[in-house]
Amino acid sequence: MDLHGKDLICTQEWAVEELEAVLSLAAEMKRERFTHRYNNCLAQKTFFMFFYNPSVRTRQSFECAATELGGHAQFLEPGAMRLKTATTAGETIEDAAEVMSRYAVGLGIRILEDKISAYGEGDDLLREYARWAEIPIISMAHDKYHPCQGLADIVGLREHLGQDLKGKRLLMMWGHGALVRSWCSVQENLLICSRFGMDITLAHPEGYDLDPEVIAAVGENCASHGSRFEIIQDSKAGYEGAEVVYGRNWMSPQAYKDGVLDKPGEIEKALRHPQWICDAEKMALTNDALYIHPMPVDRGHEVTDEVASGPRSIIYDVAENRLHVQKALMALTMGSLEDV
Ligand code: CP
Repeated sequence: MDLHGKDLICTQEWAVEELEAVLSLAAEMKRERFTHRYNNCLAQKTFFMFFYNPSVRTRQSFECAATELGGHAQFLEPGAMRLKTATTAGETIEDAAEVMSRYAVGLGIRILEDKISAYGEGDDLLREYARWAEIPIISMAHDKYHPCQGLADIVGLREHLGQDLKGKRLLMMWGHGALVRSWCSVQENLLICSRFGMDITLAHPEGYDLDPEVIAAVGENCASHGSRFEIIQDSKAGYEGAEVVYGRNWMSPQAYKDGVLDKPGEIEKALRHPQWICDAEKMALTNDALYIHPMPVDRGHEVTDEVASGPRSIIYDVAENRLHVQKALMALTMGSLEDV
């Protein structure tokens, strides 16, 4: 299987066999972190990273990944590059992508939340880069998807639940709080977990629907495995029998108004639902569920400290796995593997 040059904007666009190739190499690279045969596959090569929004894990894990593969990850602030936007004149994506393809071996982009004016704009931008660039375009989290996070989620779940996730019960639960988070991590997790056969309960208050196209795709993924997919508006019922609880705040479909993210309005609305916190009392209803979250965690709102730092929390394992899946992804899509 040759993945060299392939973009990753959403895991749903890759075949399961292709995802498995990344996952199995990631597990191998985790075991052989500083001795793996591919550890020089990015020697003398550069990966560009455009961060429109802040990051801890994504920036650091991509930088470490490039270093550990013998290459370099260069942090770029799009605001300092005179790029054309919806409201300002500047260089086109076509020209920027063509030129960058002559320098680097891959380009990662993060754009979401307050850096877009409507849901879908970030996804359009990544696809426009993918149209013109001759190097792989990797989503580092955009408004719709967060594929590297989804891959790291699967590695973490397999480490704790076993390789076969089919039939394992996931509760994806909206969490209250003031962070007004985009849908990317949640949608990616629902898509990839349903690709791997998990039963899914999606729980959120009224008015917090996710992208209908993503929900339809999750339904089709579940149907193809004969697994269960239900959506409920109850803050407690979904915990019964769950084996994995993913509790995360996300914005409502009305978050963008007149081309701007209405953060104050979204915060006011979200704080009306304090019962949507993941706590020990609710976790006691589960089948000894793991707690998973992409981080940063909003402790005291999305989840209590007791759960986030408890024995069933795998948040740090998943965060660590970002490094290993990104090393595998970079090696397979950008690396020189011929002589290894
Ligand atoms: N999970 C994740 O993408 O974290 P950062 O926003 O810190 O990169």
